[in-house]
Amino acid sequence: MARGFHVAVAGATGAVGTEMLKTLEKRNFPVKSLRLLASKRSVGRELEFRGEKLKVEELTENSFQGMDIALFSAGASRSKEFAAATVKAGAVMIDNSSAFRMDAKVPLVVPEVNPGDVKQHQGIIANPNCTTIILLVAVKPLHDLSPVKRIVVSTYQSASGAGALAMEELEKSTAAYLAGQTYQHSVLPHPYAFNLFSHNSDVTANGYNQEEMKMVHETRKIMHDDAIRVCATSVRVPVLRSHAEAIVVEQARKVSVEEALAALAKAPGLKVVDDRKANYFPMPIDSNDQYDVLVGRVRDDLSCDTGLALFVCGDQLLKGAALNAVQIAELL
Ligand SMILES: NC(=O)c1ccc[n+]([C@@H]2O[C@H](COP(=O)([O-])OP(=O)(O)OC[C@H]3O[C@@H](n4cnc5c(N)ncnc54)[C@H](OP(=O)(O)O)[C@@H]3O)[C@@H](O)[C@H]2O)c1
Repeated sequence: MARGFHVAVAGATGAVGTEMLKTLEKRNFPVKSLRLLASKRSVGRELEFRGEKLKVEELTENSFQGMDIALFSAGASRSKEFAAATVKAGAVMIDNSSAFRMDAKVPLVVPEVNPGDVKQHQGIIANPNCTTIILLVAVKPLHDLSPVKRIVVSTYQSASGAGALAMEELEKSTAAYLAGQTYQHSVLPHPYAFNLFSHNSDVTANGYNQEEMKMVHETRKIMHDDAIRVCATSVRVPVLRSHAEAIVVEQARKVSVEEALAALAKAPGLKVVDDRKANYFPMPIDSNDQYDVLVGRVRDDLSCDTGLALFVCGDQLLKGAALNAVQIAELL
């Protein structure tokens, strides 16, 4: 019998789920069998994997019998509801939602940053928030040169980070705007075409929204350093795919721009795009559908003696979600 793993994908019809199928196929992950799971609404829908049409089944407690790996991207409530059944069936759950990220028993893993944490899993491994993954892939090589003590990050987050329906809302509202028609938005809380707004997650007691606080807490957990201070501002911008982030790091010692660029160029999961003459730096249209996070605009922080400023773009459906999850499965 062919070697490989029995893999279930919960949320297979979603923005992240469809990228999971493509990533498993593209990276030649040894899939022995694939079970596609979604809500009742999608039962019977067919999705293609390795040229074969597979039917979507309803996600239930019995979905995980005989499975080795369960990739979850069906929302945090589904992850919480089906985690016990998944683990009981003997499958390792790799979860894209926020359900277990801060659970002390659950490793939170970016393979380029803390691959060793995978070994501590007790049945569940969490994928960090997309903005945290993209941030840390770029920050880790700098941290290895000299410890990062403080991060100030502003995000420019695309529609696809809010799922397939948000992408549709951006396209439809833009078409309506250009046709001079009114559009009643229903997925995101504000008009999206030719606008931008503070991230649509709930605002917490300290004034930061949940997306911003995820970057604070998850960074500390992944970097194993509770002393790292993070100040984040998350903004939703009318871009279909790929998140961008303006990052400023303060380090223990001054790292020069040249030293930083050399380290970033060698680091896994990164591609340096830094052409000052041509004014060419990371852009979402260049990071779309790419595994690497693009990094550039590396400059001295003029406001801090040991600071550096940089700009990154990453496909959050891939490195921020599906690819990171498949890389975790590869580590297993
Ligand atoms: N988008 C991103 O960039 C990103 C990045 C990191 C993490 N995530 C996380 O990944 C998860 C999915 O995000 P997404 O962007 O892919 O969302 P999405 O495009 O809205 O897809 C949601 C998926 O969940 C399924 N689902 C919804 N309700 C369900 C239910 N009651 N039972 C079973 N399946 C159900 C949907 O199935 P139907 O098609 O049948 O409704 C669909 O497959 C979320 O937890 C999100 O936070 C997303």
